[in-house]
Amino acid sequence: MKIAIGNDHAAGELKPVIIDLIKELGNEIIDVGVAAGEAVDYPIPGEKVGRLVASGEADLGVLICGTGVGISLAANKVKGIRAAAVSDTATARLIREHNNANVIAIGARIVGSELAKDIIKTFLTTDFSGEERHQRRIDLISDVEERFGK
Ligand code: RB5
Repeated sequence: MKIAIGNDHAAGELKPVIIDLIKELGNEIIDVGVAAGEAVDYPIPGEKVGRLVASGEADLGVLICGTGVGISLAANKVKGIRAAAVSDTATARLIREHNNANVIAIGARIVGSELAKDIIKTFLTTDFSGEERHQRRIDLISDVEERFGK
């Protein structure tokens, strides 16, 4: 898979650890974040990753900021993006199985690097269940997007 990754200055140290993991799992990386020591406002990489996933240039997206929240909010403004800020592996699995989330966000100031790796590995290796009730609910989310003309 092609994985788009983006981060702000809170995550410059954690990002290379996550990139190594993503590559070890056999994926390609599109990195639109900043290097350690550089700064960027989190909506910028959030939108970039959202656009890459929504356009199909990337299969899934990974975002990292201080909490994971701000950057996920930005990505969710891109039509077709279902981004979730996650701090545990059970949620990382369920956002794929139930919500077909296409972007995950983690907080470099919230989770340690080992947990962050477990979360990202779980997200990338779990598929959407495809169950009708889950698809129906995802379709309702898309309906909201359409009705508000995003
Ligand atoms: C940056 O200082 C911080 O606000 C950002 O990384 C993130 O936590 C926002 O949600």
